[in-house]
Amino acid sequence: MELKLGQADLAGVETDALILLETEGGKRADLARPLAPLYESGEIAGKFLEFTLLHGVEGFKARRVLVAGAGKPEKLDAAGLRKIASAAVRHLKGKGVKSAVFALDGGAATEAGVAAVATGLLAGSWEPDRFKSTREPGKSVASVEIAVDLTGEGVEKAFERGRIIGEALNLSRDIAVEPPNILTPTAMAERARAMVQGTGLSFEVLDRDRMQQLGMGALLGVAQGSAEPPAFIVMQYKPENPSGDVHLGLIGKGVTFDTGGISIKPAEGMEKMKYDMCGGAAVIGAMQAIARLKPNIAVTGIVPAVENMPGSKAQRPGDIVTSLSGKTVEILNTDAEGRLILADAITYALQLGCTHLVDAATLTGAIAVALGHTSSGVFASDEALLERWMSAAKDAGEKMWHMPLDDEYRDQLKTVYADIQNIGGRWGGACSAAMFLKEFSGETPWIHLDIAGTAWLDDEKPFLAKGPTGIPLGSFVNLAMGW
Ligand code: BES
Ligand code: ZN
Ligand code: ZN
Repeated sequence: MELKLGQADLAGVETDALILLETEGGKRADLARPLAPLYESGEIAGKFLEFTLLHGVEGFKARRVLVAGAGKPEKLDAAGLRKIASAAVRHLKGKGVKSAVFALDGGAATEAGVAAVATGLLAGSWEPDRFKSTREPGKSVASVEIAVDLTGEGVEKAFERGRIIGEALNLSRDIAVEPPNILTPTAMAERARAMVQGTGLSFEVLDRDRMQQLGMGALLGVAQGSAEPPAFIVMQYKPENPSGDVHLGLIGKGVTFDTGGISIKPAEGMEKMKYDMCGGAAVIGAMQAIARLKPNIAVTGIVPAVENMPGSKAQRPGDIVTSLSGKTVEILNTDAEGRLILADAITYALQLGCTHLVDAATLTGAIAVALGHTSSGVFASDEALLERWMSAAKDAGEKMWHMPLDDEYRDQLKTVYADIQNIGGRWGGACSAAMFLKEFSGETPWIHLDIAGTAWLDDEKPFLAKGPTGIPLGSFVNLAMGW
């Protein structure tokens, strides 16, 4: 979808659809008279995400007017505007609308508003249909212009930033929606390589031999049950004028399919384990946005990509592997594979000199039991980094809930046979998984996000298609930009 920034004359603009915001209890001067019956009957009430599509509204040259409910004006923030913009595009799809103008006026006409709407429009244009042999004609909106009465460098920068984040989100979702027979670890590395072209990022993929040389025994143990070789993807951004010596490491779980391995998962719902690489896809997308937006800190994106299969060479419950850190791990359940590949990725990030780490992983079913599909679980070893993270996430409209990392959870991981075992007990599974990772991040400020409940939408929402959500890409980018 093409996106433009302009200053339209709302009454005179010729477009298939003009999108106008109406707040709860409000009455726009330009709509009050032509739409009086709709206001009086309560059909237009300005409720959040209420949409009314009308043809030939008096006083407008636009072929249609879409009145978009914005809710209570004092509650309308960037996250809300992003949802409205996204839902508006989704509302107009399939109705023969090719061009649209999104009018950003009133209290919403701010630079942050422009960025949010740009991201939202792009996010709303995305569909999980890239593997359909024919796409429904007329289903997509080809171009949208944001009309706002602001000029200058600030608004253009905000527009660019919003667009870059929207494009990165869609790239991440395009990768995440690829099925596991196509998106193998090797293919995932190829997607990252293609993204990096022309961005100035440095790029490297460690293959199995290199990982063996380095001693990534925890990752290789997971990979050994699959005929697909693992790929350890490293993308690096270096600022021209660094503002300090912060080096942020972003790590994303890239299990392209998780059968569970020898501790095999039940057949029902197993197809969902193609989304076990969403953390990795978010890191690839975030690195694209970071390369374009050029923050003042160094950022390294790492995606350990593997397939967890029960092949004849698969690791067994009872195996003991030596991780890159030198710590030995007793494998008690081969389905707790994410923490094993992340352990080596965290150690590698520290070896590269990262001073702060954030990992995102569809790590445990337990986090979805705890938080449902609304908030991602946040585990933090450092208060200052947690504060930065929560504010970055709030601006991105990605909900996060702080979870506990008390030392008591470490007790569940004790074994006499090795330094640590890879599963905890029955209760608090998301917390013992996080505690396992903390063993490897050590004293370095680190955040772990468990996105198993939020990375994928089973049922579409007005503002989001079914499938990968792109979470936590927006927070990643805001964190890097806000430093
Ligand atoms: N990829 C799964 C976690 C998951 C579950 C993601 C549901 C998305 C939806 C992970 O590798 C896993 O299998 N975790 C196990 C851990 C257990 C064996 C300790 C789990 O959550 O059951
Ligand atoms: Zn698993
Ligand atoms: Zn997994």
